[in-house]
Amino acid sequence: MVHIAIVSASIRKGRKSHRIALFFKDFLTKNHLATAGILDLLEYNFPLFDERLKFQEFPSPAVLDFAEKIKSADGVIIVTPEYNGGYPASLKNVVDLLYEEWHHKPVAISTVSDGPFGGTQCITSLQFSLWKMKARIVTATFPVTRVHETFDENGDPKEKSHAEKRAGNFIQELLATIEIKNHIP
Ligand SMILES: Cc1cc2nc3c(=O)[nH]c(=O)nc-3n(C[C@H](O)[C@H](O)[C@H](O)COP(=O)(O)O)c2cc1C
Repeated sequence: MVHIAIVSASIRKGRKSHRIALFFKDFLTKNHLATAGILDLLEYNFPLFDERLKFQEFPSPAVLDFAEKIKSADGVIIVTPEYNGGYPASLKNVVDLLYEEWHHKPVAISTVSDGPFGGTQCITSLQFSLWKMKARIVTATFPVTRVHETFDENGDPKEKSHAEKRAGNFIQELLATIEIKNHIP
């Protein structure tokens, strides 16, 4: 079974997008689609980026742990809020930290907002940075609108069948990208 690393990007007090990371972890495991673990940037609490991991003389255990979890995952889901039309500094911090670890990595993106547009304005800049680092960006996306109303604190969606149908399509695209990668390494 493949393993998916879910990056939860918001480190904000009272964050809501973490609910979507919880939702995906539960969805993947209960449907036996993949094993999954959340890489919570709030828990990692990384300092502001000052150099790429490969050039760090004394990388912290947390940085090494994060890099290894991205490297060893078959695929990655990034759950990110939109902040002022972009993705948060916490996420750029770890995108830039790594390099080879992103190469050929299947990455699917879920954008999240508390408004009606699902955070979609931040997706192109994130896709572009990951594309520059040779990640295999999954074309399917999972925008979440009005996250504070549509998902509860445990990651349970209010409209379960609708959310799960959308998640199924999104995950199938990620799994297909992993499958292609595994056949053409
Ligand atoms: C600094 C900041 C900027 C934001 N900018 C946007 C925005 O441009 N578009 C949007 O739809 N929501 C915006 N939001 C609201 C977020 O969508 C909202 O906080 C949502 O819950 C997801 O972020 P969170 O996981 O940090 O809670 C912004 C929130 C913050 C804190």
